[in-house]
Amino acid sequence: MRHVYARHMQSRYVRGLTVRSLRNGDAETVSALFARLGERSRERRFCGAKPRLSEVELANLARVDRDHHVLVGYVDGDSEPAGIARLVRDGSSAEIAFAVADKYQSRGFGSILASELAADARAAGITRLMATVCGDNPRIVALLQRLGSIDARWGGGEREFVVGL
Ligand SMILES: CC(C)(COP(=O)(O)OP(=O)(O)OC[C@H]1O[C@@H](n2cnc3c(N)ncnc32)[C@H](O)[C@@H]1OP(=O)(O)O)[C@@H](O)C(=O)NCCC(=O)NCCS
Repeated sequence: MRHVYARHMQSRYVRGLTVRSLRNGDAETVSALFARLGERSRERRFCGAKPRLSEVELANLARVDRDHHVLVGYVDGDSEPAGIARLVRDGSSAEIAFAVADKYQSRGFGSILASELAADARAAGITRLMATVCGDNPRIVALLQRLGSIDARWGGGEREFVVGL
């Protein structure tokens, strides 16, 4: 099956971050990034306490195929991942999620991953990105606002942001 994001498989260097696509099944990279998230970051990323990832969760997060696209960012001189951005496609929409290692947050890396992911999404014909934001998370809101036109709706304690590309 043709990989929808094939033209983006090579790595890119953007303002201090090397960005490459995750290899299908690369659970090791997903775990390495998870290990660099503190409790609060894990709560924000997974909308609840997440002390560890189960085998099934890890396999899902490491899945890459026609509808699952994942970017990993690396900082020079550090072999461990600095951040991950993922997209799960459903027709012309996609659910997106981000995680930047605690030690690298607030340095613009989340924004770089987001704009690269949005560019890949656009190139693949996706017109709408959805992101679930739980609780107070000004960084992700600021990051999403920069991607395109934005709309938010509440569902329980979570906000679902819809970004039009
Ligand atoms: C949310 C997250 C991905 C953002 O990545 P980041 O690299 O920390 O963010 P950036 O440095 O690119 O900053 C993003 C925006 O937040 C703003 N920001 C940065 N630090 C901030 C802070 N401490 N407080 C408020 N806003 C802040 C930046 O100014 C930027 O806004 P701008 O684009 O208008 O300038 C990252 O913090 C993270 O992994 N958090 C934990 C997991 C999470 O919340 N995931 C999102 C759920 S999908």
